[in-house]
Amino acid sequence: MSHEIYDIAVIGAGPGGYPAAIRAAQYDANVILIEKDKVGGTCLNRGCIPTKALYSSAKLIENIKTNGKAFGVDIECEIKPNFNNAVDRKNLIVSQLIQNIEALIKQRKIDLVYGVGSIIGGSLEKGFELVIRGTEEKRVKAKRIIIATGSSPSLIPSFNIDHKRILTSDDILSFDFKTIPKSLLIIGGGVIGCEFANIFNEFGSKIIILEYLSSILANEEPSIVRELKKKFKTMDIEVYEKKRVLNVINNGLKITATVCDANVTESDLEKAEKLTFEADMCLVSVGRRYCIQEIGIENTTIEIEKGRIVVDSKTLETGEKGIYAIGDVNGGLMLAHVASYEADIAIFNALTSIGGFGTFPVKTDYNVVPSSIFTAYEIASVGYKSKFLEDHNIQVRTGRFGYAGLGKAKCMGEEEGFLMINVDEETDEILGASCIGVAAPELIAEIALAMKNGLTINEITDTIHSHPTLSEMVLEAAEDVYGLSIHRSRRRIKEQIDLKEDMIRGFVKSEKLKKYGLISLAMTGV
Ligand code: NAI
Repeated sequence: MSHEIYDIAVIGAGPGGYPAAIRAAQYDANVILIEKDKVGGTCLNRGCIPTKALYSSAKLIENIKTNGKAFGVDIECEIKPNFNNAVDRKNLIVSQLIQNIEALIKQRKIDLVYGVGSIIGGSLEKGFELVIRGTEEKRVKAKRIIIATGSSPSLIPSFNIDHKRILTSDDILSFDFKTIPKSLLIIGGGVIGCEFANIFNEFGSKIIILEYLSSILANEEPSIVRELKKKFKTMDIEVYEKKRVLNVINNGLKITATVCDANVTESDLEKAEKLTFEADMCLVSVGRRYCIQEIGIENTTIEIEKGRIVVDSKTLETGEKGIYAIGDVNGGLMLAHVASYEADIAIFNALTSIGGFGTFPVKTDYNVVPSSIFTAYEIASVGYKSKFLEDHNIQVRTGRFGYAGLGKAKCMGEEEGFLMINVDEETDEILGASCIGVAAPELIAEIALAMKNGLTINEITDTIHSHPTLSEMVLEAAEDVYGLSIHRSRRRIKEQIDLKEDMIRGFVKSEKLKKYGLISLAMTGV
């Protein structure tokens, strides 16, 4: 190896690990990055990216089917979705992105070593020793370690996952999975289940979703989920909620799932009424488990709780000083962008503790974490949900705007869905927002930036939004908080709100802009 002792060793090159390695190298640290499979981790190889490639194919099929003719494309022949080609395209995208990441790692002079990395021992004072078992075995030393080993699909014994007909998302996203089953049973109506339901439906599979909780996507706003369920209905996707799947069996020709009501207790299980569902294939998407095997936890004082690595939630340091854990494996939000954010926090803290890199200690802040789902509609949210605000007795005003009212959305043939924003009644602070419809994740990004910087709703309405763009959805929903949306007809100011001076304060607030003579949109007052 090129260094007697590395400053930083990163185990796992997913969206937590490889940005951690690059960030450390940007600050002139000597870095080794250890990966047992491919760079990019779940996100690039078996998650976000391959699903979005297939999602884009599914979206194109839907667009041609629903909009083709009206948009001026004469489709005389039958539309034939070709999953083989879609998978080839997906594989190409993944391969290209892997190459790009490898090139970035090389440019930064990071030692990328393929193999299983395990901690053998050591301490903050003396440094840590690691063994890498790849095509050959290597031993290296590092002053600090970042564990970024991620998660993998949960394997429930009674679901008999055989990776042939009873599958995980890893199986479906492998390079050689090119089958469109006539029917697909999806166990778990969470993020993964709902994303695959849409993809396979567009390619021609009959979809049935079985969900244990009282709603699919149970963490999203109920009004958003209602909209999605309406859409699923029109697509002939069947959704069964409050259903507990007891077992799944592959009889060689079909798979059968036996199901009972979710409320049935263990003692009543035997005599409870059971239903069976049959399909050609089954996707099990009931959550993920943390990857803590093989990394030598037993040779450290790292604590494990419910299968995850325990970290100080502010610094991300584990119980073993000098070792940090980031991303899925520490049991936080299982989102690629959270892992990348945590990479920065851990690297800054690790380099600061070594000293001499010009870094400083930092703490995590998870108050503003946007999330996105790409299913029959795009769904995105940030901040608190309405139920949380209600449960905590926080009084809010809600602004809402539908795509149908927006010129740009109409031109795009994307009139379904809406954006809603919850604002603190006292302070005008934005507390949360959710969106369902085209480009929802992009629209929520503006709100995330506003929230992170403590902007009020009025500072959004005071900002000129380019026309015609989808970003006007944010403007109109923000205006609607006070019943002032131009293109929403139902709300009438005097009936909806008690017009007080402080309610419109944002409209005359931009002192800085006014100082330089720029026109503030709402200077005309209300
Ligand atoms: P999930 O936690 O989102 O959903 C699993 C669902 O399965 C839950 O609704 C749960 O109630 C249900 N379930 C559990 N046991 C069941 C049973 N026996 N019968 C029926 N239903 C059952 O987990 P999922 O979808 O596997 O995703 C894993 C993680 O990956 C999540 O944290 C998710 O946020 C993340 N992810 C993020 C994506 C994105 O940001 N676009 C895309 C895909 C995954």
